Amino acid sequence: MKRMTAALCLALTLPALPAAASEKTFQKIKIEAGEKLFEAECRRCHAPDSTHASYGPPLENVIGRAAGSYPGYDYSAALASSGIVWTPAALRAWMEDNTGFMPGTRMRHVGIKDRTVQDFILAYLQSITTQDR
Ligand code: HEC
Repeated sequence: MKRMTAALCLALTLPALPAAASEKTFQKIKIEAGEKLFEAECRRCHAPDSTHASYGPPLENVIGRAAGSYPGYDYSAALASSGIVWTPAALRAWMEDNTGFMPGTRMRHVGIKDRTVQDFILAYLQSITTQDR
């Protein structure tokens, strides 16, 4: 009986790991996975920042950025005049079906429908967003 009480005590104390530490670990892993998915799905056209050549607009600070506003990039009329802001929801719709979401865009269709894949790419895009707008 005594032993059982001790075991019960142990079982009750074990899960009490600090929640913040594991949240941080999850976030780090999501960003790493997102970076790999970005490399596979986006990097051939998009640099993460302006120090690398980029066929599409660089995506640094994209979350919260007005669409079509990267300085000096020659956007399609559709994107330049869309009037939208790149919120996480808009970026999900874009990854899912960019040509349906914004007819006339010059970005070739990507169809990333898996929400988990979208989550990871968003975590990565968030990590290269260092500026508040
Ligand atoms: C085949 C090349 C290509 C691929 C692959 C590609 N893009 Fe693009 N992307 C472009 C081009 C070109 C534009 C500019 C489109 C326009 O002007 O209409 C663009 C525009 C964008 C924009 C708008 C940026 C702004 O400044 O308004 C976002 C956001 C974006 N892409 C995200 C992504 C993400 C995320 C992926 C990967 C899931 C991806 N793109 C894959 C070529 C590509």
